[in-house]
Order: sequence, then C-alpha cells, then structure tokens
Amino acid sequence: MDEQVRVSSRVVLFGGNGDLSLRMLFPSLYLLDRDRLLPDGLTIVAAARAIPETGAFCEELRRAIGANASVPGIDGDVWQRFAARLATCPMELERPEDYTRLGQRCGMKADDATLYYLAVSPKLYGSICRNLKAAGLLGPHCRVVLEKPIGFSLQTSRQVNGAVAEAVDEDAVFRVDHYLGKETVQNLLALRFANSLLEPLWNRNGIDHVQITIAETVGVEGRWSYYDESGALRDMVQNHMLQLLCLVAMEPPVVLESHAVRDEKLKILRSLRPMNAAEVRQKSVRGQYAAGAINGKPVPGYSEEEGGRASNCETFVALRAEIDNWRWRGVPFYLRTGKRMPKRYTEIFIQFRDVPHSIFALPPGSNLTANKLMIRLQPEEEITLWMMNKVPGLTSEGTRLQALPLNLSRTNAFPNYRRGIAYERLILDAIHCNRTLFVRRDEVEAAWGWIDGIVAGWQAAGLTPQSYSAGSWGPSASFALTERFGHTWLDS
Ligand code: BG6
Repeated sequence: MDEQVRVSSRVVLFGGNGDLSLRMLFPSLYLLDRDRLLPDGLTIVAAARAIPETGAFCEELRRAIGANASVPGIDGDVWQRFAARLATCPMELERPEDYTRLGQRCGMKADDATLYYLAVSPKLYGSICRNLKAAGLLGPHCRVVLEKPIGFSLQTSRQVNGAVAEAVDEDAVFRVDHYLGKETVQNLLALRFANSLLEPLWNRNGIDHVQITIAETVGVEGRWSYYDESGALRDMVQNHMLQLLCLVAMEPPVVLESHAVRDEKLKILRSLRPMNAAEVRQKSVRGQYAAGAINGKPVPGYSEEEGGRASNCETFVALRAEIDNWRWRGVPFYLRTGKRMPKRYTEIFIQFRDVPHSIFALPPGSNLTANKLMIRLQPEEEITLWMMNKVPGLTSEGTRLQALPLNLSRTNAFPNYRRGIAYERLILDAIHCNRTLFVRRDEVEAAWGWIDGIVAGWQAAGLTPQSYSAGSWGPSASFALTERFGHTWLDS
C-alpha cells in the first residue's frame, strides 16, 4: 500500500436504509466489527431521504442484522461498540445544500479519509460526486464505492464513468463486483498461482474447453422493471461471469497488486472474439422461463411475475466465448447462467485433453475419460479433480478403469471457518484502499464493448428468447449449443 494512503476513518452510506445496505452492507460492517477488523474510531453515517433519527434507525438495524443468515446472533458488547459508531443524516441526494449540512453534521474536514458508498441508483452517481466535490467533501484521502450496473452499454457506461470522473480521480473510484469478494473466487488465484502443478497444462495444449455456470433457483425477486431493462446478459455475464472468465484465463500477474492483476484481466477482455449476427446464431442462446416448479412448488413464468408483462428479455443465456491469444486460441469457454434453474450453484469446469494414446484394452462398460477439474464456488466451496483409476479386482477382459474424484472441501479442511458475506472483504479492502478486487474503468468498458456486440448481433439476427419451463436447465438449444461443437454441459 502506498505510504500516502490513509485508512478510512468514516464510512458514509448513501442509500443507507435501502435494500442493499440493510441486507448486505450493514451486516458486513457488523461482522467486521465483531472480528475486530474495523479501525478504532471509524464512524458510519447512513444517509438517505427518509431515514429515521439515529436511535430509531439503530433499532431497525439491529433487527435487520439479526435476521441475516450469515450473522450467528447479535453479541451485546459488539452491538454496543457498533451502535456507538452509527449516525444518520436525512438528506435529498440531489440537493447540493444538503451536502453542506452533511459535512457540518458529521464535523467533516478537508483532509478527512471518508469512504462514500453509493448504494443508490447509478443515475445518481454523477450528481452525488459533483455535490460532494462542490461542498468540499472530496479531499485527497476520500474514496467512492460504486455498485453495478455501471451503465447498460458501452456508451451509457462511459456516461456514468465520465460523470463520476469529473469529480473523482479514477484511483479513488472502487467499482464493486461482489463475486470478487467471494472466498472461492480469491482461492482461484491461489489455486492457479500458488501451485506449480497446473500452470504447464493451463493452456490450449492441456485444456480442451472451459465451462462456467451460474445457476439460480430464484426468479426476478420483485424487481421485474429493473431486470427487464437488463436481462441475463447484462445482469450476470457483463460483470460476474466475465470476471470469473478473466481469473481463469489471465496470465500470471507479476505481483498480487491492483494494477498488475487488473492489467492482466483487461488483456483477456480485449482478446474476446466479437460475435457477428451469423455467429450469435451458432454461439449464443437466449431463454426466458415459463411457469414451472422449483423444488416441487409451482412458480409463475417471467411475464406473469409481479409487475410483469409480455417481454423479449432473456432470463437465461448460454454463450460460446473465444479468446484470441496464444494461450487460449481454439479453446472454447462456455458460459451459462439462468434464473429458475433446478439447483443453485456456481461452478467452473476445466476439461483437460484426452490422453494422446490409450494403452488399455478396455472391457465393455469401462471408459478412459479425460481429467476434469471442478471449482465450485457456491453453495459449498470445493475443488474436485477427476483422475482415472483402475477398478480393483481381477478380470479376464482387460483393465477396468473408472474416473474417481480427488476432493478438497473447504468445509472439511477448515471446519471452524465461517462463510462470510462477500461484501465484508470488499468493504475492508476499500477502507484500506486495496483496489485489487475492484473493477477498473477500462475493464468495465472493455466488457461492455464485447457485450454490445452480442446485443447488436441478436438484434440483427432477430434472436428472441426461447421458452423454458421454470425448474429446467434452460431451452433445448442450450444443449445443442455445446453438442454442435462436440461437447456437453458438465454437471457435478
Ligand atoms: C446480482 C444480480 O448481481 O447477482 C442478481 O443482479 C443475481 O440478479 C445476483 O441474483 C447473484 O448473486 P449471488 O451472490 O447470489 O450468486
């Protein structure tokens, strides 16, 4: 960390009583305090239009934090310490004079190290940053955290980033992709760069193809209007899936430091092969869930959800991405994500190549299959490598082989480890000004550039979503997508 960098002494949460703050940010701050990771003297200000006075808000917060599944009960002493840090500030986020009041109320000074967390609509990012600057509240040690979505296209993301850049230097902007806060995502870096075993194989010579699946059982969870402007491609692929792809595909950074890591990710994003209208027909699938059942319970279709209507928005997308560089030329990266899938999980599969020549005369029912590595991010965190084994025993028909898993379960290896909220890591890093797990402007824009090409291809090809029943693995075209290239979706 740069010597000039100061640890934040205040966190201001704009949208402090909103859904994200109550469900994720405050529980994360509480857990950080419980683990003694918040700096002494750090204060937390919840700012929003209709926010109650501090006392009443603390009551509300205590209930919200206590109800969070990741919080194993509220400890009285920790709560006292935590509540003493809190204050609220009712304000209109678009009214410049309210920022002067915020500054006075909190006794802010020009060289304070304040972390502003913008848990509000991205439409407000520009005006909040402008107002902070005009009120003299954006000193050299301040940082601004932004949530997704940063725009809905390259052009709109440039508008959002441009408006922020008028008031805040890029180095002080922390763009969150909450997948980067997940423990196993960071473990991916350890797996790749703390083991010498994999690197010689981690390229087109050793790997046949890669699959990344983020399957969700939930539907649009009461945010139909927001989701309908976005769809699975923008909501999940542009950010979370491409970040995972980057971590799998990037070259080893020279050091685990923010610019080094982000430079390598950017090279991957810039190497993604664009798809034209003819290619999107071959290499992409859009789906939208119809009524069906999840865990035996009936659920409505997308257009029948609360606030819904007939729409051409995709709730499922499958893609065959290609990376045009020396390491990955010819290795497809299949990406698949959808709502209302039968199971919730996030998995990365690395399918290695077949052995070049089999020496075994295999009896019927025995196969020699290529090794595969599965990195499961959620709900459990585990890494499994399938290796070929001889089935024990005698046979007159040759050697019987079977693939068996070598399993590294994080729960078994670290039984006392508490699975945290991804935001804990991210908030802590922002407080300490560690940018590695935050997304730089050029990354966001490179990702949008590739996504825009797919959207344009869909429009030119008239590709509308195909229906799939809630509780299924998406439209049948998704299976055809991999089969067309001689592959099948792998499922642990
Ligand atoms: C969000 C998307 O970014 O990620 C949601 O907007 C999605 O639609 C969510 O449900 C998934 O996150 P997680 O951590 O539950 O996999």
